[in-house]
Amino acid sequence: MYLVTGCAGFIGYHMCNYLIKKKIKVVGIDSLNKYYSINFKNDRLSILKKNKNFTFYKIDICKKENVDKLFKKYKFQKILHIAAQPGVIYSFKNPGIYKRNNIDATKVIVDLVAKYKTKQFIFFSSSSVYGDQKRYPIKENFSLKPINYYAKTKIECESIVQKKLSGANISTKIVRPFTVYGPFGRPDMLILKLLSKINENKKIDIFDYGKQIRDFTYVNDIVKMVFKLYKKKNKSIKILNLCASKPISINQVLRIFENKIKKNFKISFKKKRKGEMKKTFGSNKKVQRYINLRKFTNIKKGIDETVEWFFKYSKKKNIH
Ligand SMILES: NC(=O)c1ccc[n+]([C@@H]2O[C@H](COP(=O)([O-])OP(=O)(O)OC[C@H]3O[C@@H](n4cnc5c(N)ncnc54)[C@H](O)[C@@H]3O)[C@@H](O)[C@H]2O)c1
Repeated sequence: MYLVTGCAGFIGYHMCNYLIKKKIKVVGIDSLNKYYSINFKNDRLSILKKNKNFTFYKIDICKKENVDKLFKKYKFQKILHIAAQPGVIYSFKNPGIYKRNNIDATKVIVDLVAKYKTKQFIFFSSSSVYGDQKRYPIKENFSLKPINYYAKTKIECESIVQKKLSGANISTKIVRPFTVYGPFGRPDMLILKLLSKINENKKIDIFDYGKQIRDFTYVNDIVKMVFKLYKKKNKSIKILNLCASKPISINQVLRIFENKIKKNFKISFKKKRKGEMKKTFGSNKKVQRYINLRKFTNIKKGIDETVEWFFKYSKKKNIH
């Protein structure tokens, strides 16, 4: 039995879907918070709930007693802690929610992982812990230079995991995904924002004049990598980048969209925002060596699939 936290979120949903399709039983928990549309989260959940291998509990991780009861009931052997408060810009506006849903929630999960001696644990950190670097691609042993509060909370979470679980005989991994995109993606991130604005014929703001470079990584590749990681047991805590290692600029992404959608869209170029990295470009050598996954989805194919999903979905729904 697997526990996946944040199962109504973008990556959590895809992770659960992948596991239950492999006939693995999954318990998913999520607080269904209002950071973005609850209807959108419920639409993801309604797909998962169709499969009998999936069981959902609406639980706020910070309510430790409720999570403890669930651990007692199911004796989870494998836990994926994906739930978090993501987003770089919002972390300047509402830091308290980042402390709560990242640092406090991770403490709860890690305490219970140690208490119930879970066999395998994966914690979702983020590439933002690296900040802006001088050398690329970024390797896992590069020094961490966070430039926003979100990244700082993720570093604090990593240290909670390391302090509590090293030497605990629990196979533990900390993964650092880079700019994840795909169907049912997060409405506050570029690709979905772009699609929504195009659909509504509205102008989209592009910051740093589209010069920012991102290591876009398709969500299916992320869940495949994480699943393969579970087949590997490790004694000491492993830290791994999860990325395609094929960075492109936002302006290049805009061109891919223009070619795909064949429609002019309105862009308003703006200056760089505080806290956003100039470039993310990770090395995936370590994870490739570890799990032997060599093929990553090409960005054009990934965007094709995302655009196709979007237009089918948006005929019925509004995404905010
Ligand atoms: N999407 C990316 O590009 C990306 C990149 C790097 C790292 N990450 C990390 O991956 C993870 C998933 O990100 P996502 O993009 O799917 O975000 P998301 O916001 O779509 O999903 C997070 C889910 O966690 C839930 N949640 C938050 N606090 C909770 C709490 N206290 N109790 C229970 N549930 C709670 C939310 O309701 C949400 O459904 C996060 O840890 C994020 O920091 C994401």
